[in-house]
Parts: sequence; C-alpha cells; structure tokens
Amino acid sequence: MSETHLISGPSGGETCEVVSSAYESESAPAPTSNLLADLTTLRLGGPARRLVTARTEAELVSQVRDADAQGEPVLVLGAGSNVVVADEGFEGLVVLVATRGLAADVSDCAGAFVTVAAGEPWDEVVRHAVSQEWIGLETLSGIPGAAGATPIQNVGAYGADVSQTVARVRTWDRMANRYVTFTAGDCAFGYRTSRFKQSPGRYLVVDVSFQLELGPLSMPVRYAELAAALGVELGQRAPLGDVREAVLTLRRSKGMVLDPEDHDTWSAGSFFTNPLLTPEAAAALPDDAPRYTQPDGTVKTSAAWLIDRAGFGKGYGSGPAGLSGKHTLALTNRGGASTADVLRLAREIRDGVDVRFGVVLQPEPVLVGCEL
Ligand code: EPU
Repeated sequence: MSETHLISGPSGGETCEVVSSAYESESAPAPTSNLLADLTTLRLGGPARRLVTARTEAELVSQVRDADAQGEPVLVLGAGSNVVVADEGFEGLVVLVATRGLAADVSDCAGAFVTVAAGEPWDEVVRHAVSQEWIGLETLSGIPGAAGATPIQNVGAYGADVSQTVARVRTWDRMANRYVTFTAGDCAFGYRTSRFKQSPGRYLVVDVSFQLELGPLSMPVRYAELAAALGVELGQRAPLGDVREAVLTLRRSKGMVLDPEDHDTWSAGSFFTNPLLTPEAAAALPDDAPRYTQPDGTVKTSAAWLIDRAGFGKGYGSGPAGLSGKHTLALTNRGGASTADVLRLAREIRDGVDVRFGVVLQPEPVLVGCEL
C-alpha cells in the first residue's frame, strides 16, 4: 500500500513528493503454555501466573494500565532475547507485545521517517529498510528482539546503535498514567542505556520512529572487522545489501544469530556489557588488552577478551550451561540448563575476571526475579 502527496521543500519554494507506505510482518502464533522458557531465547524461566498476548496498541496499554491499577506485578515481554527469568517464573501478568506494523513517509527532501510498532520483529524492520534503500539500520542486522526494545538499551552492533537514527519514542508512562513522547535528545542514550533503562519498567514503549537517509550505500563503515569483511577502508560506504549480508555472516560466525537447531545460539547475546574504565584502570590492564577511548574520556575494554584471558575460553563449562563455542560473551543453555545453572556460571565468570583483572563485569540482560 502506498500513497503520494506534496510538501514544501527546505527553501519553501519548490515542492517535494512524499510517498507514504505501510508494511506489516506476519503475526506471531499465540503461545500454547504459560511457560516463560518457551518465550525466551535462553529457553529459561518458570511459568507466568497470567499471560496475555497484546496484538493492538489499545490492548497493550489497557492490559498494563489495568494490572497497574490492581497492583498486579507486570512483566512486558517482547521477543525474550535479553532477559533471564527465574526458574520460579513470574508471579503476575506477563504481557507479550505482539503489535505489528511499520508506516513510512519518504521524500527526497526529508528522507524516510519510519514509525514501527513495538512488537515488530527487529530484523524484519532492518530487512525492509535495506530493501527500500533506507540507510542507517544495516549494521543492526540479525539482532534478535522486538523493535520496541531497541531504544531501551540503545541496541548497537558493528559501529552503530539506534541512538543515531531514533527520532522519537512514544511510550505509555505507567507512573503518570498517560502517553509521553520523547524526542531522541530526551532519551538520554548512552552505551547500552537510556532513560527507559534508567527507570526500569516505568515506560512502556508503544512505537519507535526512525529518521533514515535514502540511497543505495550504507552509512560509513565504522567497525574494523566489518570493513575487513567488506574489503573497504574504515569510513567508506558499501552497498546496503552487502553490509547486511556481511554482518549476518559475522554474527553467525560468533553464534549470535538464533538457530533453533543449534544450542550454541541459545543465549541472550552478550551476557555482560563491555566495561567503561577510568584511564588509570585501563592502563593497569595487560598491554594487549583492547582499549577504545570514548568521547567522555573513559576507556572501553572488551568483556569477551577479559573473560577469555581470565581462563574461561570458548566452550568453557562442563555442565548444561556453558560458554558459546564461538564467543566467550554468550552464555548458552546447552539443553537441560536451569536459570540457576546459568547464573552460577555467570557468577563464576564475573568473580574470575574480578580476581584476575580487578574489573567487575555487569550483566547486560534484564534479570527477572533473580540476581547475580
Ligand atoms: N574476543 C575474545 N574472545 C572471544 C570473542 C572476542 O577475546 O571469544 C575479543 C577480541 O579481542 C575481539 C573483542 O573481544 O576483538 C571484541 O569482540 P567482538 O568484536 O565480537 O565484539 P564484543 O565487544 O564482544 C559487541 C557487542 C555485541 C555486538 C558486537 C559487534 C556488547 C556487550 N556487545 O561485542 O552485541 O554484536 O560488539 O558490534 O556491547 C549484544 O549486545 O548482545 C551483542 C551481541
């Protein structure tokens, strides 16, 4: 579906054609049980006391608002790719965000303004953007999860994060009991964080708008490993489709693309964030430790490298929970693991890295009903 209308160009003189279009990915089947293990990529977590699937924005907001009014605990779940849920499950209402739909206004004057329902699977959004020659999301290919979750932890990979393209986030503010829309500047985006993450549970994201440029080439490539895979210099652009394919290949080589057949991908992606250190703390690491100086003067190092060097190599662990055979930052469920098994392994790694390097790793996924 698409329709066309005219707007004034930037100088006010000329007019510019705006093409509006819509896209919707297939709706997900309703879950067949209340077991949260069936709804998380780690395949862990006990039962929900109550589980509803919200397919419209009105349903989503009313389910959460009504439960809040009753004082019933609420867990809002997208694709379940960044959560660790306790074996005991969740004593309250789990709302599955299953809203769908993407609406775009595209013009040569203003690029693509794309609004996506919170429940749209993120990779469908990226795939569609690349196919339409909308620029800015291509390096975020293959990331599991729902579109509405992306601004919460400022999802990023291969040199980009969503803070660079988010225009606006529309939310239901559960504390104020009203809709609140944030422009990008009000989202307090940082490395894997935002104001939504800082006030856990307060804001229910209902949709996210992205402002994207138009054209056949990607944003300048900012990640050395990706530039090498594409055969371009850092800072050069490459065809959008090539960037998407190269990122998917890289992610697969690290076990970071979900495959139901492959237990090595049964994870929540990176289990720890990359530590941001003071320059002094960074200087105390071994010479060959990765160091990336940030605009604020802190130095980011690699959690995967610290874990590896602390003696936890790829494939570490003899039990049902172990490190991925392809990347030390992914803790995987090899089949019969419980949440307690994964947390035990996570503690062992956190403590081992602390003892070896004096750096305390912080978990990246949201822990529900459990802690490290
Ligand atoms: N490394 C090891 N051992 C390993 C893997 C990596 O020592 O098993 C070292 C290497 O020195 C490597 C460095 O770690 O150069 C960094 O590894 P990588 O390039 O794979 O990136 P990362 O920092 O581990 C981050 C994100 C990923 C994202 C990639 C690519 C975090 C916590 N993780 O990983 O995001 O895909 O960069 O941009 O920021 C996620 O957040 O869930 C996630 C998968």
